[in-house]
Order: sequence, then C-alpha cells, then structure tokens
Amino acid sequence: FCSVKRVSVIKGSWSRDQQRGHKHTTPRGGGVVCNVRSPGCFTLLLLHCTCTCIVLSAPPLLIFKINMEYPSVKLNNGTSMPSFGLGTWLSQPGEVSAAVKIALNAGYKHIDGASCYGNEVEVGQAYNEYFNSPGAVKRQDVYLVSKLWVKDFGRVKEACQRQLKQLQLDYLDLYLMHLPFEVEGDHPRGIPDEDGTGLLGYDAKRVSEVWAEMEKLVDEGLVKSIGVSNFSSKKINTLLASSPKIVPATNQVELHPYLPQKALLETCKQHGIVLTAYSPLGGPGRTDKADDELNLLEDEIVTAIAKKHSCTNAQVLFKWGIQRGTPVIPKSTNEKRIKENLECLKVQLDEEDMNKLNGIETRYRFIKQLWAITPGNPVDSIWDGEYLG
Ligand SMILES: NC(=O)c1ccc[n+]([C@@H]2O[C@H](COP(=O)([O-])OP(=O)(O)OC[C@H]3O[C@@H](n4cnc5c(N)ncnc54)[C@H](OP(=O)(O)O)[C@@H]3O)[C@@H](O)[C@H]2O)c1
Repeated sequence: FCSVKRVSVIKGSWSRDQQRGHKHTTPRGGGVVCNVRSPGCFTLLLLHCTCTCIVLSAPPLLIFKINMEYPSVKLNNGTSMPSFGLGTWLSQPGEVSAAVKIALNAGYKHIDGASCYGNEVEVGQAYNEYFNSPGAVKRQDVYLVSKLWVKDFGRVKEACQRQLKQLQLDYLDLYLMHLPFEVEGDHPRGIPDEDGTGLLGYDAKRVSEVWAEMEKLVDEGLVKSIGVSNFSSKKINTLLASSPKIVPATNQVELHPYLPQKALLETCKQHGIVLTAYSPLGGPGRTDKADDELNLLEDEIVTAIAKKHSCTNAQVLFKWGIQRGTPVIPKSTNEKRIKENLECLKVQLDEEDMNKLNGIETRYRFIKQLWAITPGNPVDSIWDGEYLG
C-alpha cells in the first residue's frame, strides 16, 4: 500500500514541545514534521502513496525518510527545473526572509525572485542562513531564479553581479529577462511615469543585444540557464530569428485556467522552451485589484474538483499546471499556506479533472503590465494578439 521511492536514513534530535507535552522532530530538506505522542514506541506513519514514509524508534532517533516525489521538467540545455516553487513578488522585506526559510525547510526546491521585487537582500539573508544551517539541503540541490529588470538592459553583467551579491550566491540556476520592454537606465523610478516618461518600450534589436549579454553570463558561470518572461509567441519567434547562440530555456508568463496560453504553449513547445506559470492563483494579494475582479480561487469547477480530492482549490490550480508540464511558482508568506501549497504534490488529477479544467471558458489576464503600454495604445497592444491567450 505504499510505493517506496528512495530511502535515506538521517539523524534526528528531540526537542520538546512544552505546550503540548509532545516531542517532535523537524527533519530538513523535504522531510515532514511528525508529532509523536508516546516516545519510545515505534510509529509508522504512512502518508500519501508515492509520498513519504517515516519510521521512528526510541532515542537515539533514526528517521527512515522516503523523499516526496518532486516533479521537474527537463530544459533544452539538459538541466532540470523543479516544477513547483515559491514566488516572492509582494513578499515584504520584513517577512520574505522567514517565508523563504519556511519554504526551504518544508522541502521547496525552487525559489523565484527578481531585482524589482525590492527584497533580494532579505532573500539573500535567508539563503545564507538556510544553507549554513545543520542538515540543510545543499545549494546545488535547490533551484534559485532571478530576473534582469528593464532598467538594467544597458548593464546586464553589472546587474547580475549586484543581484548575486545581494542574494549571497555564487551563481543562479536561471536568470530571466523580466520583460521585453526597456525603461531608461537612469529613470528615477523602477517603472515609467504615468505619462510614459522613461518608457523606451519594445525594440527587437535591443532585445537581441540584451540577450547576447545574458548569454555571456552563462559562459562566465554566473548563471546556469537563461530565459525570458512576458514574451508573446511573436516576440519569441523574433528573438529566435536573430539566431541567438542560446535558445531561451523558459518563458515565465501568467498562466492558469482563465489564461491557459494555448497558442504560446504550442510555440514554446516547438522550440523546446518550458512555459512557467506565474500568478497561478490569479495573484489575489495585489493591492491594485478591481473590486469586481474575477476570483479564480472560487471558480466552481475548481471547487468541485478540490472537493472530490479533499484538497484545497489552490492545490487543484497548482496541479493543473504541473500536470500540464508548466511549472508553478505561487507566492505566500503565510506559514500554513506555504506548507499546504507544497502538499499539492500529493494530489493526482485524473483525465476527467484535467478535461474539466481545460474546458473552462472564462478568459482573463490579471497582471496586465499596464506600465509597459505606450500611452494611447490599447491594453492588449503589448501581447501581440495573445492578451487573452
Ligand atoms: N515574471 C513576471 O513578470 C511575474 C509577474 C508576476 C508574478 N511573478 C512570480 O510569480 C509568483 C506568483 O505570482 P503572484 O505572486 O502574482 O500570485 P499568486 O501566486 O497567484 O498569488 C499569491 C497570493 O495568493 C495568496 N495565496 C497563496 N497561497 C494561497 C492559498 N493556498 N489560498 C489562498 N490564497 C493563497 C498569497 O497570500 P499569502 O502570502 O498571504 O499566502 C498571495 O496574496 C510571484 O510571487 C513572482 O515570483 C512573476
């Protein structure tokens, strides 16, 4: 009744939970926290079938840990990217460090960040503390991502080095061109003014030049892979038509059942580019959200499938993406949700569920990137016909 994948034996240590009078262990790196009511007895804890199985014995404690199966996708350069990660946009500097450490301790193998999130110093503190803590998963076993901001198009290497320093890392697993729209390097704000001042916008030649600078980062060992973000099919094809040395490994875009990006997914597949899903919940924490905005998390089809599997609506949305071959990177700074979201890996949607989710007809883009639109142009002008993809 339990399909055992891999067994490893790690040493655990008791620490007393004073309030409950229970003992618990907190194994790191993909383990689970297990409360033991009667220390000294053997407890066999069976979790989900392909998931985790722990045998506890009396102290000195041995934990036989069978790691949770963590799906990943193969990239076009032969490396692999874990299909589930933690997003960090809108994670406040005062809370992001704790969130990243909670995630890594819970077993997350992929963290997504960016210069423009304004929190890479705190994320770096979390990496440093986590990787230097006893029993932590090694740096090379976690997939760390960041992005080149649009103001840094003219100083790619400098920006990457600055970010690595802030993140306290020697290299990034993946570095993305955050958007294909440039903002003046010396503009006082991160994004253009409302009247468009500071916006240089999209220029295919400029994008190719910036990409060539990003390719050098791979040669120099600063990053393992490079990719793009917020690229339409047309912009992907235009970049590839310039015959770059490296084909982007991934394209990170908004992706969920209300914006399934079928045409873009097809384009990316043709070129061996993995499509990664940002805002897989529709980014419900945004402050600029309209009062009447759709609520993907409350969609009735999603709700019915969650009920069927006794899981959360969020877990259904994540699993839809993962099973479709598109990694998901939900953001949370809430300890309960960070851990609960990871548990989506235990949910298995069947063909009927996937068909129902694929059949949702609502189309909506939550993250419109309005600042990148040249004033006077329609909201969909930057998405090349894929605004409601
Ligand atoms: N490349 C790009 O241009 C781009 C754009 C947008 C996002 N991203 C990346 O993608 C990541 C995810 O996207 P996102 O942050 O926009 O949106 P998201 O992951 O769809 O949603 C995050 C929001 O959902 C809440 N949440 C998390 N888990 C939940 C659950 N189980 N039930 C209910 N609410 C839950 C979070 O609140 P709590 O924190 O309180 O849990 C937060 O407010 C970002 O953090 C960022 O790393 C990239």
